[in-house]
Amino acid sequence: MPFAESDTKGVRACRSKIRAAGAQRLMGQAPPTGHRGSVRRAAVSTAEGGSSTCRRLARAALCTPAAAAHDALPGSRLARLPRMAPPEHFCARIASALVALAASAAVLAVSSAQQELAEVKRAVPDLERGAGHFETCAACHGPDGGGTRDGQVPRIGGQHVSVVEKQLLDYRHDRRWDLRMEHFADRHHLGDGQAVADVAAYIQQLDPSGPAGQGSGKSVNAGAALYAQRCSSCHGANAGGDEARAIPRVAGQHYEYLRRQFYDAVDGRRPNFSPEHIRLLAQLEHDDIEAVADYLSRLPRRQPGKSGATTEGAGVR
Ligand code: HEC
Ligand code: HEC
Repeated sequence: MPFAESDTKGVRACRSKIRAAGAQRLMGQAPPTGHRGSVRRAAVSTAEGGSSTCRRLARAALCTPAAAAHDALPGSRLARLPRMAPPEHFCARIASALVALAASAAVLAVSSAQQELAEVKRAVPDLERGAGHFETCAACHGPDGGGTRDGQVPRIGGQHVSVVEKQLLDYRHDRRWDLRMEHFADRHHLGDGQAVADVAAYIQQLDPSGPAGQGSGKSVNAGAALYAQRCSSCHGANAGGDEARAIPRVAGQHYEYLRRQFYDAVDGRRPNFSPEHIRLLAQLEHDDIEAVADYLSRLPRRQPGKSGATTEGAGVR
C-alpha cells in the first residue's frame, strides 16, 4: 500500500514539526505568541501553517504523478490521453481512502486506551508500591511532587487520582505529547494498570511544600474575576478540580507551566484537550492568560482546613 505508507510518513513529518515547535518552547525560547494582543492571531496562523504544511506534504507524496502529468500535458492533450484519470478525481479518491484509514487507526487507538483505563480502574491501589514507583518520578517532580518553580516540571502532588491516571495513559497513547513523559509513562516504567493506579494514589496524597512559581502580581484581581466567570463551573470555586469528572486541580500550579499549557492547547500541541476547551482558551488575550495563570498560582494547593485525604482516597490499601 504505497499510499498508506506515504501518508503515515507525511503525518509523522507534520507531527515532528509540531513537536519541534513545542520543544523550542521547553528549551526556554520565547513563544512565538509572546506579543501583547497577538495570542489568537499567532495561534490561528500556527494552526494554519501546520495544516497547510500537512496538505503540501500529502499532496507532494500522493498526487505528484498525476499533477506532473497534468502540468506537462495541459488542457486538450491530457484529455486525449486514454485511461488517464483526471488528477482531481485521482487525488479525491486517494484522499477519501486515507481518511478512512486514519479513522480506523484512531478507533483502534481509542479502544486500546479504553481497555487500559478499565484495567487501571479495576486495580485496588497500594500506596507502598506506589511509593516505590514514584522514586523514578521524584527525580524530576521532587519527593513531594512539587515540580520546579520555573514551571518546566509541573506540580503533581495533591492531584486527583483520576486526573493523574488519565494523563499518564494519554502520554502513553499519543494523546499528550512530551518526550520525557512519554518515556516515563511507558510500560517499561509503569508495567501494568495496577502500577498506574498505585503511583496515582501515591501522588494524590502528597502535599507539595512552599509557594508555586508565580507571575508579576499585577493583575491577580482581573484573573480572579475571569476565573470565576469562565472556569470555576468546571474547575471549582477554589480551583480544586473534580475527581469524578477527571477535571484537574489547578490551584497552586506553577505560573509558567499553566501559561505553557494554555499556548500548547491553543496551538494544537495538547490533543487531549476537548475542542470546546481549546476554543474557550483561544478567546483569551495575552493579558487574560497571564492574569488567570498568576491568580491560580497563588491559590493554596489544597483548601485550608481540609486534609489531603479526601474521599477519592477511599479504597486505597
Ligand atoms: C525527566 C523528568 C520527568 C520524570 C522522570 C517524570 N516526569 Fe512527569 N512530567 C515531566 C514534565 C516536564 C512534565 C510536563 C510535560 C508537558 O508539558 O506535557 C510532566 C508531566 C507530568 C504529568 C501531567 C501533570 C499535569 O498537571 O497534567 C503527570 C501526571 C506526571 N508528569 C507524572 C509522572 C509520573 C507518575 C512519573 C514517574 C513514573 C513522572 N511523571 C516522571 C517530567 C518528568
Ligand atoms: C467544561 C469544563 C471546563 C471549563 C469551563 C474549563 N475547563 Fe480547564 N479543563 C477541563 C478538563 C476536563 C481538563 C482536563 C483535560 C485533559 O484531560 O487533559 C481541563 C484542563 C485544564 C488545564 C490543564 C491542567 C494541567 O494540569 O495540565 C488547565 C490549565 C485548565 N484546564 C485551565 C482552565 C481555565 C483557565 C479555564 C477558564 C478560562 C478552564 N480551564 C475552563 C474542564 C474545563
